[in-house]
Amino acid sequence: MAGAALGHSVKKVRRVAVLGSTGSIGTSTLEVAASHPDRLEVAALAAGRNRELMRSQCERFRPGLVSLADAEDARWLARNLSYKAEIHHGAEGLMACVRHGDVDTVLAAVVGAAGLASTEAALRAGKRACVANKEALVVGGALMTRALAEGGGELLPVDSEHAALHQLLAGRAPEHIREVRIHPTWKMGPKITIDSATLMNKGLEVLEAAVLFGLKADQIQVTIHPQSQVHAMAGFTDGTYQLQVCANDMKLPIQYALLWPERLVGPVPPYDWFQARAWTFEAPDLTRFPCLDLAYTALRLGGTAPTVLNAANEEAVASFLAGRIGFWDIPSCNAEVLSALPGGPAESLEQVMAVDAEARRRARAWLDGRS
Ligand SMILES: NC(=O)c1ccc[n+]([C@@H]2O[C@H](COP(=O)([O-])OP(=O)(O)OC[C@H]3O[C@@H](n4cnc5c(N)ncnc54)[C@H](OP(=O)(O)O)[C@@H]3O)[C@@H](O)[C@H]2O)c1
Repeated sequence: MAGAALGHSVKKVRRVAVLGSTGSIGTSTLEVAASHPDRLEVAALAAGRNRELMRSQCERFRPGLVSLADAEDARWLARNLSYKAEIHHGAEGLMACVRHGDVDTVLAAVVGAAGLASTEAALRAGKRACVANKEALVVGGALMTRALAEGGGELLPVDSEHAALHQLLAGRAPEHIREVRIHPTWKMGPKITIDSATLMNKGLEVLEAAVLFGLKADQIQVTIHPQSQVHAMAGFTDGTYQLQVCANDMKLPIQYALLWPERLVGPVPPYDWFQARAWTFEAPDLTRFPCLDLAYTALRLGGTAPTVLNAANEEAVASFLAGRIGFWDIPSCNAEVLSALPGGPAESLEQVMAVDAEARRRARAWLDGRS
């Protein structure tokens, strides 16, 4: 399989660095680790500002290596831990957790651009990177693919649709894959709700799938499936489809990525077949949801075009949430910035971040003219 995410290896005990351990994905990861103490050792924990939660996580899992965003919080933690650990801070602290010889698996769940460099470093260091951080794949897709090829690590998706696709596509020859289908999900939070309403979230996931599995734009389809029970489908050249179904619980894709290719009894009960009375599937209306169409445009343009679209969208959604623009200004802003700045090659992290900054600048200028 040519896709970036379909490597293979098994290890008895995985020594895991959880980046973003105090967040939603991070805490779920620690629940998964707690249910497999003989297979998953928490070797390192890294987070931002929540030092109290970090302290209790440390006391429970006793990692030898810890990092917080801020130097003062790191000093506070050193004074308040009941055991001796190596304590770092800032972007370098994240890197120390990724690169440490005691770590062979990195669960990348730091939100936003702060997670990009550490995810790339994990792949470059030849480790298993279990990637929840969408931005790393959408904004820095080409960099991650290169780091994976050059570093010889493994890239396992944690986003639920992409973990589903990994399960459906592992071991399949690319010429046998006609298309994949992903569906809107149940995720909450202000930004994700707006992105779901515009279908931009689905657009970002289309871009993510292209990077992970080496698929072209016309091989990735989006289907509206209001019950959110089927996470993804794979259609093969002979006309057969396979569907992936499981409970709506992020602990499942997290455990899948950490322990792949093994399937062990974990903290989530099996799927309840009688919970949803019916499954329905509909085609999205691209004229009503121009953001999805823009994601396909960015995918076809390639290079840094997905970076531009993501940056414009983040600025537009922030303006909408602040009450400065209307809902339909979001796709207009995204389209405007993408056509003004169609992107170029993505050679380095610095270059990608410079494009991201320029796209944000243009988006803000457009949005200021609107409000
Ligand atoms: N939640 C989901 O269901 C879900 C599903 C699929 C994909 N994802 C993706 O997974 C990623 C994480 O999502 P989440 O929902 O877990 O987010 P979240 O709850 O906001 O957690 C973010 C984590 O990142 C840490 N962090 C923020 N800035 C940091 C920095 N500069 N250095 C170190 N750590 C930093 C936070 O630490 P503090 O809280 O201590 O400041 C927190 O631990 C996102 O990219 C998201 O799109 C989430």
